[in-house]
Amino acid sequence: SGQALSGVLGISRTAVWKHIKGLRGMGYHIGASPSKGYSLRAGGEETPFNAVEISSGLTTEFIGRKIFFHAALQSTNLKAFELGRAGEPEGTSVIADAQTGGKGRIGRRWVSPPSVNLYTSIILRPRISPASAHMLTLMAGLSVAEAIGLFLGRRPVVKWPNDVLIGSKKAAGILMEMDAEPDRVNFVVAGIGVNINMAPEDMPDEIRNIATSLKEKTGADISRAEFTMALYASFEKWYKIFKRDGFPPIINEWKSYFGYEGKLVRVVNFNRTIEGICAGIGSDGALLVRLPTGALERVISGDVLPVKAV
Ligand code: BTN
Repeated sequence: SGQALSGVLGISRTAVWKHIKGLRGMGYHIGASPSKGYSLRAGGEETPFNAVEISSGLTTEFIGRKIFFHAALQSTNLKAFELGRAGEPEGTSVIADAQTGGKGRIGRRWVSPPSVNLYTSIILRPRISPASAHMLTLMAGLSVAEAIGLFLGRRPVVKWPNDVLIGSKKAAGILMEMDAEPDRVNFVVAGIGVNINMAPEDMPDEIRNIATSLKEKTGADISRAEFTMALYASFEKWYKIFKRDGFPPIINEWKSYFGYEGKLVRVVNFNRTIEGICAGIGSDGALLVRLPTGALERVISGDVLPVKAV
C-alpha cells in the first residue's frame, strides 16, 4: 500500500505516488487498487529497457559495468567518443533507446527508431597498433553473432568485415571508430546496432528488402535488456581471449560463422569492383579472393556482395 511504502521509505505518500508515476513513465506496468495498493505486473510486455534492468543481470567484469543510458542520442558512437576523450575506463558503454543520427559504415545512416532495437557503443583501450585495430571489428562481429545465435536457436552468418545476417538479410552492423596516434591507439569505440524487435513494416523502403530483425525471424518479442546482457558477456569473453592469446582464436571462431567461403563474390572497394571465389580470410583479417586469373587478392576494405544468395 502507499502507506506501507511511505513508512518503509520514509517519504510522504505524495512522494510515493510521484515515484510510481515516474516508474510508469519508464515503462513499468504498475497497477493501483484502493484496497490492495500498488502491484507490479510482470510478463506480457517487454521488461523496461534501462540501465538498472541491464545491470541487475549482468555477468561481466568490466564490459557494461558503467552504462550511460539515454532515451535518445544523435549517435551512441559520438557520445562514447566524447566519454573516451574524457577518460572513461575500458568497458564503459553507451546505450540509446533511439538515435536521431545513427551512423553506418561509409557515411551511411543506421535506421534507429525508438523502443525496438539495440544501439550501443563500448569503449575499449587495447594495447595494439592502429594498423591492427580493424581486427577488433571481427571480434565484435563474432560476439554479436554468438549473442544472436543464442536467441535465434541457430547460427547466423557473418559477412566480412562486420555484418551479421540471418538468412541473407542484415540483422546487425558494427561501426568501429578509434582515437589514435600514428603508433598507438588511445581508445576504440565499438558501435553495435542490432535489429531486435523491429517489424518489417516499420523499416523504411531503403532497407526493407535487405534487413531483418530477430523478432521477424523468431516470431517472439525479445527482451532488449536480456539481449544486451548476453551480448556484453560474449563480447567480454572474446575480448579477454584476444588480450591473452591475440587474434588467431578470434579468426578461427569467426570463420565458423562465415558463409561466403568457396562462393563467388563481388567486392566493391571505392571505384574498383572485383569478382572471384572467396578463399576465406587471412591471419590479418583481410578477405581473400581468388581472381579468374588465378591470383589471390587480399582485400582490406570494401563491401562484399554474393553473386548468388548465401
Ligand atoms: C553498418 O553496418 O554500416 C554499421 C552500423 C553500426 C550502427 C551502430 S548503432 C550504435 C552505434 N552508433 C552509431 O551511430 N552507429 C553504431
